[in-house]
Amino acid sequence: MTDRDQGIERDYRGVTRNTPNIFRRQGFFAIMPTRMSNEGGFGARGRDRGLSRRPSARPMPVAVREALAHRCRWVACMMTFVTGSARQAARAWQPAGRGRDRGLPEEVLTAPVEIVRRAPALRGDTKCAPWRGTDEQRRQGGSVENFDVPIERRNTGSVKWDRYRDRDILPLWVADMDFASPDVIVRALQERVAHGVFGYGNAPKGLLEAILAYVHTHNGWTLRPDWIVWLPGLVSALNLACRATGAEGDDVLTLTPVYPPFLSAPRLASRQLITVPLACRADRYVIDWEALEETVTPTTRLFLLCNPHNPVGRVYTGEELERLGRFCERHDLIICADEIHAGLVLDASLRHRSIASLHPDLAQRTITLMAPSKTFNVPGLGFSFAVIPDPTLRERFRAAMKGIVPDVNVLGFAAALAAYRDAEPWRLALIDYLRDNAALVLGAVRAMPGLNVTPIEATYLAWIDARALAPQNPQRFFEGAGVGLSDGADFGAQGFVRLNFGCRRAVLAEALGRMQRAVAHRQGAG
Ligand SMILES: Cc1ncc(COP(=O)(O)O)c(C=O)c1O
Repeated sequence: MTDRDQGIERDYRGVTRNTPNIFRRQGFFAIMPTRMSNEGGFGARGRDRGLSRRPSARPMPVAVREALAHRCRWVACMMTFVTGSARQAARAWQPAGRGRDRGLPEEVLTAPVEIVRRAPALRGDTKCAPWRGTDEQRRQGGSVENFDVPIERRNTGSVKWDRYRDRDILPLWVADMDFASPDVIVRALQERVAHGVFGYGNAPKGLLEAILAYVHTHNGWTLRPDWIVWLPGLVSALNLACRATGAEGDDVLTLTPVYPPFLSAPRLASRQLITVPLACRADRYVIDWEALEETVTPTTRLFLLCNPHNPVGRVYTGEELERLGRFCERHDLIICADEIHAGLVLDASLRHRSIASLHPDLAQRTITLMAPSKTFNVPGLGFSFAVIPDPTLRERFRAAMKGIVPDVNVLGFAAALAAYRDAEPWRLALIDYLRDNAALVLGAVRAMPGLNVTPIEATYLAWIDARALAPQNPQRFFEGAGVGLSDGADFGAQGFVRLNFGCRRAVLAEALGRMQRAVAHRQGAG
């Protein structure tokens, strides 16, 4: 008998426990509509439970239909809570006279977390388990990743997990994922280690070709090998970009909130930081063009761009990048574009574009920073690179590196080759898993009074507005509830927190449950 047959379930600690068959049969649909169709939206379960009338006929939202097409009924259920029409449907469940979203029945408010608690994927119910990988991969019999497998990271020298060593706080902060890297990378590293000699390294044969092919396929940008500068990390590169452009005292411009080294690098290079907050319009962070024009100074030399944008998860559109490019040309700014999250676009309707790829002129004024570290979960291996088409700018960048920046280590090189050449099926499966996690976070967080979260176009990071809940220090509030998030203040936005959902779904569900209980408790107390 397999685990599945015996109803074995793993909790967020990875501990297995037997689930009684009765519970399994009852399934997660116990709290959910019994039927979702494009005629009625929801079935009669809510009515059975005395939760008022059945909603009127309306078309099923596209996102929900897509989720169903991918055989993810439970994701579809969650998505219904994220889409407007489903909100209406959920409202129709509430007893007459109750308030708006906050007055929804407990069953509805707690649904996203509950769904995942009982999710078929966690119980191993193949009928409803979300499909990992594309249909094409399945036809070809490609590997199916299992991101639900628990891997103990305590006592492995992990920055993420060591912070809360010996405390019951789930670490959803620093941007690394709890998943094992792709098999192809692990095997490449094993082979390299088995060689036993670890002298100074050059890029292995095939790496340049693999990167050129990857960037061409994914960004539609044809690179030349001599544009590439190997680096042991992108934080160093942000600092190098500040040193390699302009002179001491010049201004460096960036959009906030943003990954903290964007805020510290200018000062470390004796430059002045000037910032323009992103505007949140219609639940989406966008560039405030007027503020940008008002803020730029005659001594601004560098624009630091984060695309996709950590922490707000935006993938800037071609139009936005064109306009930004024109702005930088008009003010004669060098652009440093950090694209470390480019492989993690979750919104299937969007595509990452490198600003430098738009026009040759823009490429000449741009330093593009790339790495496999976030996408393939190898940030601890210290491999990344800059793409600098302009020879003078490239020389200035290299000069800033001299005597300070070490070479890339041989294991970082080996991992990069395997990542760019062989790990695409793994990446696609990861994106599927992260999409489901993102839907879970959106549904659960939006149901918590006092919190809001904007749609996550890319990254495994959710940017949560907690100003209405705990304006002073929401990070500490949630830490007290057993969830370790990143403090928005470090990104230039007090009252916000960033949640890293690059973790097993069971861990995420547990964390969201803790947050939900803490929020409910605070609301009750207030
Ligand atoms: C936008 C961005 N740039 C750079 C980094 C770090 O890069 P590295 O580890 O290569 O220094 C991160 C890590 O979270 C990041 O989010």
